[in-house]
Amino acid sequence: MNINNAACSDPGPGSAGGKGENLMGKQIVVLLGSPRKRGNSSKLAEHVSRGATSQGASVEAYYLNGMNIRPCQACMKCQEEGSPGCALKDDMQDLYPKLKEADVVVIASPIYWFNISAQTKTVIDRCYAVGVGKRNIFKGKRFAFLLSYADSDPFVSGAVNALRSFGDMCNYLEAEIAGMVYGSAGDPGEIEKNQALMEEAYQLGCRLAG
Ligand SMILES: Cc1cc2nc3c(=O)[nH]c(=O)nc-3n(C[C@H](O)[C@H](O)[C@H](O)COP(=O)(O)O)c2cc1C
Repeated sequence: MNINNAACSDPGPGSAGGKGENLMGKQIVVLLGSPRKRGNSSKLAEHVSRGATSQGASVEAYYLNGMNIRPCQACMKCQEEGSPGCALKDDMQDLYPKLKEADVVVIASPIYWFNISAQTKTVIDRCYAVGVGKRNIFKGKRFAFLLSYADSDPFVSGAVNALRSFGDMCNYLEAEIAGMVYGSAGDPGEIEKNQALMEEAYQLGCRLAG
């Protein structure tokens, strides 16, 4: 990702929405897949959100760990003719319309055991109800992926597995990958020390708003 072609500059924390209200701005849904609210993947998401709102996008972030979202039960009710959707009545029912309305979906996850967190995977599995065939609400949408992991090597950490899965997912959904920002950090928030990565995340946010 070329951060020299800066689309916009970061005026710093608390300055989201620099272009003021833009009712026609892109709608961005951010899924936060870490249990750590101020963890590293959330920090990446924060910088993406700041970049996006600076360019007039509206961003809604969902802390998945705090939501009641059960794993897919493979009941296949969602695939039946005339089905109203997923049969599980939990917080996914609030998320489905948000995902449908979104122009862009940002998925932020830590790497756990060489892949995305369970919280993230659970939501993705539940998208079976809205991601298959005629029911695919993601066709043509843009996705961005943010990952943090402890090992310095994205192959050793398992980040590459996650990136590969996201690629396969977007291919299946006929969705576009608008960007992937990922980096190594351990303690919560430590990733912010990597200023180049924060800038990369911010610039991705700027592009997502366009
Ligand atoms: C249960 C668990 C499993 C982990 N597995 C891996 C792993 O497979 N590879 C890796 O590089 N880091 C692993 N880590 C470290 C986290 O990915 C790393 O601390 C990351 O920055 C956490 O992101 P967060 O602050 O957004 O939660 C693991 C951490 C936990 C708690």
